[in-house]
Order: sequence, then structure tokens, then C-alpha cells
Amino acid sequence: MKVTIVICSQTGNTQKLGELVSSKLMESGHVVNLTPLVSDPPLDQSKAVAARNLRITNLPDVSSADIILIGGPVWAFRPYPLLLKAMLDLSPMLKGKRVLPFVTHAFPFAWMTGNSSLNTLRKMAAKAGAQVLPGAVLSGSGKPGLERYTEAAAKICAQVQ
Ligand SMILES: Cc1cc2nc3c(=O)[nH]c(=O)nc-3n(C[C@H](O)[C@H](O)[C@H](O)COP(=O)(O)O)c2cc1C
Repeated sequence: MKVTIVICSQTGNTQKLGELVSSKLMESGHVVNLTPLVSDPPLDQSKAVAARNLRITNLPDVSSADIILIGGPVWAFRPYPLLLKAMLDLSPMLKGKRVLPFVTHAFPFAWMTGNSSLNTLRKMAAKAGAQVLPGAVLSGSGKPGLERYTEAAAKICAQVQ
């Protein structure tokens, strides 16, 4: 299967998860394209920026992908602004596509901002006409050890079929 992974990551946690997912999927024989998004201006956490005012400079063409995975962090109880902008910019290409959103966040339980942010992304993908998969939340992203990352990666990979 052709898998496109779109990553929005400020401090590397979501990118680490995306890379784990990518390696696991390639080991299983999938063809993976992973794109860490870049914005202009770069996001600065000390300044509130509305998602619509960001310009993504490297949005991938997802038209030939069989499935699109898109992930990023939770910021201030919501998906990271660049992740929201990526969903908006990709929307015209998502109709009929399988879309799997995922988020990483620092609080230890998914009900603390993780689930609600994932649901926001799932609703955006559904509005764009995508076939939305359950997706995944990685909580406690700053805790030491890889266990949370390997668990979340396994959960994501199990949905890629
Ligand atoms: C400005 C800012 C706001 C954040 N807000 C939340 C939040 O509301 N809930 C939460 O659990 N984590 C929050 N975090 C933590 C990040 O979601 C977490 O560290 C995430 O894994 C970062 O992903 P990244 O390294 O891919 O950027 C916040 C971090 C920053 C910098």
C-alpha cells in the first residue's frame, strides 16, 4: 500500500512517533512517504498565530496515496495550529481517502486534551469526505522511555490495511 505520513512537530515527539510508524510499515512491505511540514513563518510558541495565517511551504501531493496518516501535538488544549492548517489545506484531496489522524501530548491521560484534539481532526477529515479511521493518541509524550511510542506506533500500524 502507498502510505503518506504528514508530520507536524515542534519539538520532535510527533516526528519520533511518525518515524517509528514509517519503519514498521516499511518492514511490512508498504511504500511510505513521510513529510515533516514546514511553515512560513515558523511557529513560535510565545506568539499566538491563527492557523489560517500560516503558509505551509512543502504540502505533499497525497492524490496517489492509499492512506494518509497525519499527526501533530496538542497545544493549549487543541491541535497545534500547523496541524489545523494542514488539515484545511489537504481537505480538497481527502475526499474518499482513508485518513488516520494522531496526536501526541504531554498530559498523562488521553482524556486530558488528547481525545478532544483527535476528535477535532477526525471531524475535519469527515467534513472533507474522507473515510476516517480511529487514529491514536500518545499521552505522556515527555516521559522517559520508548514504550509509549512503540505502543502508539503499533496501534497506528494495526489500522493500516
Ligand atoms: C505551547 C504549548 C502548549 C501545549 N499544550 C498542551 C496541552 O494543552 N495538553 C497537553 O497534554 N500537552 C500540551 N503541550 C505539550 C505537547 O503537546 C507535547 O510535548 C507534544 O508531544 C509535542 O509534540 P512535538 O514534539 O511533536 O512538537 C503543549 C506544548 C506547548 C509547547
